[in-house]
Amino acid sequence: MRLTVFNGSPRNKKSNSKILIEEFLKGYHRVCDTPVDIHYLANIKETTSHVEAFRQSEIAIIIFPLYTDCMPGIVKNFFEEIAKLDYSSPKRVGFIVQSGFPEAVHSTYVERYLQKLALRLNFEYLGTIIKGGVEGIQVMPPRMTKKLFDKFQKLGEYFAENEKFSAQIQEQLRKPLRMSATTRLLFNILRLVGLTNLYWNSNLKKNNAYKNRFDKPYAESTLN
Ligand SMILES: Cc1cc2nc3c(=O)[nH]c(=O)nc-3n(C[C@H](O)[C@H](O)[C@H](O)COP(=O)(O)O)c2cc1C
Repeated sequence: MRLTVFNGSPRNKKSNSKILIEEFLKGYHRVCDTPVDIHYLANIKETTSHVEAFRQSEIAIIIFPLYTDCMPGIVKNFFEEIAKLDYSSPKRVGFIVQSGFPEAVHSTYVERYLQKLALRLNFEYLGTIIKGGVEGIQVMPPRMTKKLFDKFQKLGEYFAENEKFSAQIQEQLRKPLRMSATTRLLFNILRLVGLTNLYWNSNLKKNNAYKNRFDKPYAESTLN
């Protein structure tokens, strides 16, 4: 099997997507030693070669972060380009969507889009892995990421053995689908004392944008 990976994070090689796919490939290479090509869609000047690599791939995995409940523009651009290809034989394609918010439910809408995309382009759809709560993995100590990374390694191992995602691990990774009532209550308390926005506010301040945080640039003007 010749697997090709497409990383759709605008953060390129500094991305969480890269970290997760590396864990996946650790497991994958325990079973299969065929080299895996990885393409970074953030290198948009190389779009033509990314599209060609997709055309030539036997099995492709496209991994990307959830951006504003959907996908980064570079991923949409890539989809529009590969939609122009002529598929003589059905391509086998799987997706991994990972996000900042802990609840996997946020990514289930783009999952429906990916299913439809695969259907329209006559792909053999290998499913979508969804994982929430990924943002902090670059700063977490190893003991906090171990469980997640082990799961991705097992996912890769299973993929190399079966040429598809493990339904069981897929199910485990999309937990929590929604926060429990207790967690929601706790979260609301933290929100009321301003703790949930601490990180985001510090970023806004760093970028001198704190005063603009309630701007609505697309709202209809009330001045007319
Ligand atoms: C512009 C932008 C929009 C985002 N939108 C969402 C979102 O709608 N929902 C969510 O859960 N996370 C969102 N995130 C968080 C990313 O999905 C999350 O940090 C992800 O792990 C980043 O992966 P990467 O390092 O591979 O790009 C957003 C991040 C950015 C920068």
